[in-house]
Amino acid sequence: MSSIDLSTTYLGLRLASPFVVGASPLSDHLDTVRRLEDGGCAAIVLHSLFEEQISQRDTGRIHHMDPLDRQFATVVSYFPEPESYPLGPDEYLEHIGRVKAAVKIPVIASLNGTTAEAWLKFAKLVEQAGADALELNMYEVITDLDRSAAAVEHGLKQIVKDLAPELVIPLAVKLSPFFTAFANVARDFDAAGVRGLVLFNRFLQPDIDLQHMAVWPRLELSSSDELLLRLRWLAILHGHVTCSLAATGGVATPNDGIKAILAGADAVQMVSAILRHGPSYFTLMRDDLRRWMESHEFAAVTDIRGRLSLAKTESPSAFERAQYIRTISGWASRLGYQAYVRAHEDDEPTRPS
Ligand SMILES: Cc1cc2nc3c(=O)[nH]c(=O)nc-3n(C[C@H](O)[C@H](O)[C@H](O)COP(=O)(O)O)c2cc1C
Repeated sequence: MSSIDLSTTYLGLRLASPFVVGASPLSDHLDTVRRLEDGGCAAIVLHSLFEEQISQRDTGRIHHMDPLDRQFATVVSYFPEPESYPLGPDEYLEHIGRVKAAVKIPVIASLNGTTAEAWLKFAKLVEQAGADALELNMYEVITDLDRSAAAVEHGLKQIVKDLAPELVIPLAVKLSPFFTAFANVARDFDAAGVRGLVLFNRFLQPDIDLQHMAVWPRLELSSSDELLLRLRWLAILHGHVTCSLAATGGVATPNDGIKAILAGADAVQMVSAILRHGPSYFTLMRDDLRRWMESHEFAAVTDIRGRLSLAKTESPSAFERAQYIRTISGWASRLGYQAYVRAHEDDEPTRPS
């Protein structure tokens, strides 16, 4: 029996390892949920219930627009019909209870919305349904040219300020990386009462279909390339916020998981890799982490978390800038060298005189 301790604390919850399944349809079927637990998954984040679903059920409106009002018909038609979501609001609450009864690992519910409005009351029902924590996904693409960054940030913080004191269970927020001063935003969320930051939302990148001259939303599974942005911000925030940090996006292999922990992640969420390889991939994640720790003589995850963060770097900003300049300058001279070699490839060797 290995004496290596893989356990971690995330949102105040004790987890057997840092590896958790992220919000996705993987939690929709009880059979899969049990397989995730058997495969070594340490906690489950349920797929999101959307603000629009809740407000439509409660008020008949989406973003204050009445679907029966002809002036809003086009905008409202962009949203799915209530019955085409996997679960409606009441079914979602029942699902929380069913998943909780099916597994022993913590179950984190997910709400997805961006306004500090009445729909937020639903969070209390999520808590009463038995969720161990709530992840709030603040997914929004700001297209309004009149809305400033400060106004957007104020609105998001207001949601946390309204919600966090209402809940007994811990609240995490899943955020976009597109803030001008993300470190400041993260610190303010921390101060406003979030117990965890989930970094980062992957935005849908709509593509253009040339044949049909139409825009279509693409949902591609991620690759390790996407992890680098997360590693940077985990490394910057580790040691500067009191709340937990979770990585989501681009954890495709066990080595990616280890990197996220070294950067500062308390929990590592995975979706694409589990969709590709199945629930037992969590066993590989844990085994490889354990092996790596053994080979480097670490006894506990707490010994490696944040070891490669910027917490002890004197001036992280100067460090980042210096890394950038070093890389760019190094690369430019290498490119120059390669171009020089190509240009002279066919030259006859000249004899030294
Ligand atoms: C099919 C699919 C469904 C998803 N559904 C949700 C969701 O309901 N709520 C949410 O916050 N994120 C959702 N996500 C995003 C994931 O939770 C995760 O943040 C993202 O896939 C990046 O992680 P990965 O690189 O491990 O896939 C979904 C992702 C996929 C691929």
